[in-house]
Amino acid sequence: MEIVDLKKEFEKIYGNGESALFFSPGRVNLIGEHTDYNGGYVFPCALTFGSYLVIRKNDKSVVRFASLNFDFKTEIGLDKLEEKVSDGAWVNYPLGVMQQFARKGVAFVGMDLLFYGNIPNGAGLSSSASIELATAVALNDLYNCNLEMMEMVKLGQRAENQFVGVNCGIMDQFAVGMGKKDHALALKCDTLKWEAVPLTLGNYRIVIANTNKRRGLADSKYNERRTECDKAVEYISKVKPIKFLGDINLADFEELKNAIPEEVVMRRARHVVSENQRVVDAIPALQAGDLVKFGQLMNGSHDSLRDDYEVTGVELDALVEEARKIDGVIGSRMTGAGFGGCTVSLVDVNSVDTFIAEVGKNYKARTGLTPDFYVAEVGNGAGRIN
Ligand code: GLA
Repeated sequence: MEIVDLKKEFEKIYGNGESALFFSPGRVNLIGEHTDYNGGYVFPCALTFGSYLVIRKNDKSVVRFASLNFDFKTEIGLDKLEEKVSDGAWVNYPLGVMQQFARKGVAFVGMDLLFYGNIPNGAGLSSSASIELATAVALNDLYNCNLEMMEMVKLGQRAENQFVGVNCGIMDQFAVGMGKKDHALALKCDTLKWEAVPLTLGNYRIVIANTNKRRGLADSKYNERRTECDKAVEYISKVKPIKFLGDINLADFEELKNAIPEEVVMRRARHVVSENQRVVDAIPALQAGDLVKFGQLMNGSHDSLRDDYEVTGVELDALVEEARKIDGVIGSRMTGAGFGGCTVSLVDVNSVDTFIAEVGKNYKARTGLTPDFYVAEVGNGAGRIN
């Protein structure tokens, strides 16, 4: 949708007048899954699709929310902004962010907000973090808060943890906030040290495939995995005190794994430690242009998420298996939290059409679901559009 159209839609709902427009992308993680809340490395990039927000102050004492994607609209009195709207409503994302700004001392006046997003919903491409950061950059601008992007990234994560109630790590908000066109972001999640690495893909393209399987139990399973990782840290700490699983490498793990009496917990920890190593290896592989190695690490990542972390499922596994059968595919894995959502594959540019046709057909035959495909374009992080 064109920018002009969005402003037109805004005026249709709220009436004519000046307004400001902001954009915040979705993200895809290339490698490093379920490592962020374990103090490890992640390697995501921002996409060119995302969420738009048109906003202005009004002279009423209510904040009005609308979205072109959902029917649900609401207006909330300034004294009620800290109350959650019914569970699952999209408005909770901007509300959670507003709460964080209020805690920083921002005194809100009435506002009108219109959201529009072109990230496939529930696909694990961070539509929620995208809405959070769109709201954050807009409020930062509207109330002259001068917050650094990293502060807004942390604030977005807190909104999701504390208000929405999903115990996510920092990867999504970080990728969405700090994204850089044609770069992937190598982030160490405990220190928040990071580096933008040029995405020099030569003849290869990043192809995202959506299983179109709704991520039903995702949130509860996600929190269950987090608890299992905490348990692993506790067991290991009896022998060698650590704060995060990201504090140990594979050699340490081999020596320490006997300290974990529960087999399942041991496997969860083994995924985190081995995945972390794969990211550490993948970053220089990309820098050196060794895409074949990068692809092998992606394959290793999926297999570990399937066997040790057990967050893939029939649909993601089928999509990855079919992808790996295509000539010109050098790596394929699930991306994001898992339990549905998307895969990411490195595909030779000359094989992209075959990939879409063949994988689409074979996946449908196996699961009955029709997948969607996107050739990823990597864009910048959240900000104002003038
Ligand atoms: C979700 C969470 C992230 C991260 C990934 C798994 O996207 O929001 O913080 O944990 O899952 O890597």
